Amino acid sequence: MKPHFLNSLAALLAIAAMTSCNGTNGSQPTQPLKSALEGKFLIGTAMNTAQIEGTDAVGLGIITTQFNSVVAENCMKTEKIHPEEGVYAFDLADRFVDFGEAHGMFIVGHALVWHSQLPAWFTVDAQGNEVTRDVLIARMKDHIFTLMERYKGRVHGWDVVNEAFEDDGSFRQSPFYRIIGEEYIQMAFEFAAQADPGAELYYNDFSTAAPGKREAIVSLVQNLQAAGVRIDAVGMQGHITMDFPTPEAFEKSLLAFAAQGVDVMITELDLSVLPSVTRSADIGARVRYDSELDPYTQGLPEAAAKKWESRLESFFDVFIRNSDKISRVTLWGISDKDSWRNDFPMLGRTDYALLYDRNDQPKPIVEWIVKRATQK
Ligand code: G3I
Repeated sequence: MKPHFLNSLAALLAIAAMTSCNGTNGSQPTQPLKSALEGKFLIGTAMNTAQIEGTDAVGLGIITTQFNSVVAENCMKTEKIHPEEGVYAFDLADRFVDFGEAHGMFIVGHALVWHSQLPAWFTVDAQGNEVTRDVLIARMKDHIFTLMERYKGRVHGWDVVNEAFEDDGSFRQSPFYRIIGEEYIQMAFEFAAQADPGAELYYNDFSTAAPGKREAIVSLVQNLQAAGVRIDAVGMQGHITMDFPTPEAFEKSLLAFAAQGVDVMITELDLSVLPSVTRSADIGARVRYDSELDPYTQGLPEAAAKKWESRLESFFDVFIRNSDKISRVTLWGISDKDSWRNDFPMLGRTDYALLYDRNDQPKPIVEWIVKRATQK
């Protein structure tokens, strides 16, 4: 493992590099996001592999200066951390948790039970036949206990179940649902509460502003609570586009979840500026590349950048107005150049979805958030 001082050195170099830049994008905020938002909510980011391995010095500088919460973008997913039965690959996840701890971050584990990035072995036996309900429950339990016990007291909250519903509110036909039945969700939360009673437990999903999904999540929280099963927060993934959802619909869901007595977190926030092709954030939903749907390969025209800024402002306005209900807002990465949006739903587009541009310079929205958060 790379010693922590290398990460810290990288961070110092990055800060030095950043302070030498200027421009519309590039003006450093008058105070760090995390201090401007103190007392309102945590401000987090996803960390990619280069950042966890310590090779993205500039990214690390931004993370340690601006943010106080981290989540791993990929390395704690089942296919990465549990690629074969009984085989766990903890290296990157260990480094991620070490980094978060060394920098006093609120560390989030993502994601324990999720249909996507689930390795094939998880749901089949040695002959390739689908496993029985009891076997899948046992595998799910082993997976939850192994991860949560390893990072007990260090990972502060977990996405226990991720993306269990379709937009219309019906259950996603995931292997967990098909083989175990809808009780798999309650079981996952029960196992998680036993594995680390001190960790916060979350349900996390995208398109939560869709009415069907909103109602399904409200019912889920109510059912868990009625059964005496702990759920601490709902994570509203913020994979938004220029046309979905409206800030009003997003706020309506936020208020509906908060009314159940749980915290709300805005997770996985990014705003794609590109023509939207699908509302889904399910990485399986791929579309063939079409240059007409990739209009900004040579840069983002000022008018489009302004529209993007103003749309993100209206969302942050919702978050800040409702900060008594929101425990955390997490961006899904630092720099536009690293965003998954460039490759979804079609590979190789040029998107501008995050707070920092392709040169790792802050966009004007960063200072706007600082000002809005600190205005009297
Ligand atoms: O690491 C390999 C690389 O070696 C290979 O050359 C390359 C070729 O395509 O693939 C790389 O892996 C990719 C990985 O991201 C790392 O970049 C996978 O193909 C790609 O499928 C994977 O996508 C991730 C996706 O989840 C699926 O796990 C995205 O980075 C990540 O941002 C995205 O995040 C999800 C959340 O976990 C849950 N909510 C929705 C969100 C967006 O789909």
